[in-house]
Amino acid sequence: MKTALVTGGTSGIGRSIADRLRADGNHVASIDITESDTDFSYVADVTDRAAIDAALDAVRSALGPITILVNAAGMTSFRRFTNLTPAEWSKVVDVNLNGVFHVTQAVLPDMLEAGWGRIVNISSSSTHSGSPYQTAYVAAKSAVNGLTKSLALEYGPSGITANVVPPGSIDTPMLRAAEEKGLLGGSIDDIAARIPVRRIGRPEDIASTCSFLVSEEAGYITGQIVGVNGGRCT
Ligand SMILES: NC(=O)c1ccc[n+]([C@@H]2O[C@H](COP(=O)([O-])OP(=O)(O)OC[C@H]3O[C@@H](n4cnc5c(N)ncnc54)[C@H](O)[C@@H]3O)[C@@H](O)[C@H]2O)c1
Repeated sequence: MKTALVTGGTSGIGRSIADRLRADGNHVASIDITESDTDFSYVADVTDRAAIDAALDAVRSALGPITILVNAAGMTSFRRFTNLTPAEWSKVVDVNLNGVFHVTQAVLPDMLEAGWGRIVNISSSSTHSGSPYQTAYVAAKSAVNGLTKSLALEYGPSGITANVVPPGSIDTPMLRAAEEKGLLGGSIDDIAARIPVRRIGRPEDIASTCSFLVSEEAGYITGQIVGVNGGRCT
């Protein structure tokens, strides 16, 4: 049995990924700023390196070395660029980009020791298309795409793959909150009507893709951006 760590595992996409990797037969731990009712879930902020290190020590003691990592924690912000404060810019970059740096750097020694590892970073389909009022978010998620490609090249010789899944619109608390605030330019149903496969994405669509990318069979796939968006971006 392998041990997987999922960040943002309390809600939405991260929660679904954690459930799927557990169903696949892995030990699964999650870290999140929000408490979870699942076993081996730890409260830690991905921007707080000391808190991450403490949580990872606890995970290793309970479940052994971590050789699968899915970085799904994230937050968004909707603000006209000219009104974006430096503090809001920094917060969005800190959580969505620096969080991936911290957790990945803290977990990688386990993978190097094992000579095997799988990293999947959840970015966003907005990195294909851009998204108005989301400059900080799209900038941070685009940087995650680049970070992941470089990790793939650097650690491929060590048996570690690194890939990105940039989701399209997925029905989660994050998307529902944006809809309620009128930030989507229409309802979720309106978005679904414009998507080629004519439905909104489900967290399970992302989880099943991650399940494959962390499997033994996916060992020749690395440095890739694997879009899961119902055909919205091609
Ligand atoms: N839902 C979508 O349509 C969509 C589309 C593209 C990308 N994404 C990305 O998918 C990922 C999951 O999003 P979701 O829709 O499930 O959102 P969500 O809000 O339901 O879940 C995000 C989780 O991340 C956690 N989190 C936030 N900040 C954190 C921090 N600093 N440290 C640790 N945990 C933190 C939250 O507590 C929450 O449990 C995010 O990275 C998001 O940017 C979502």
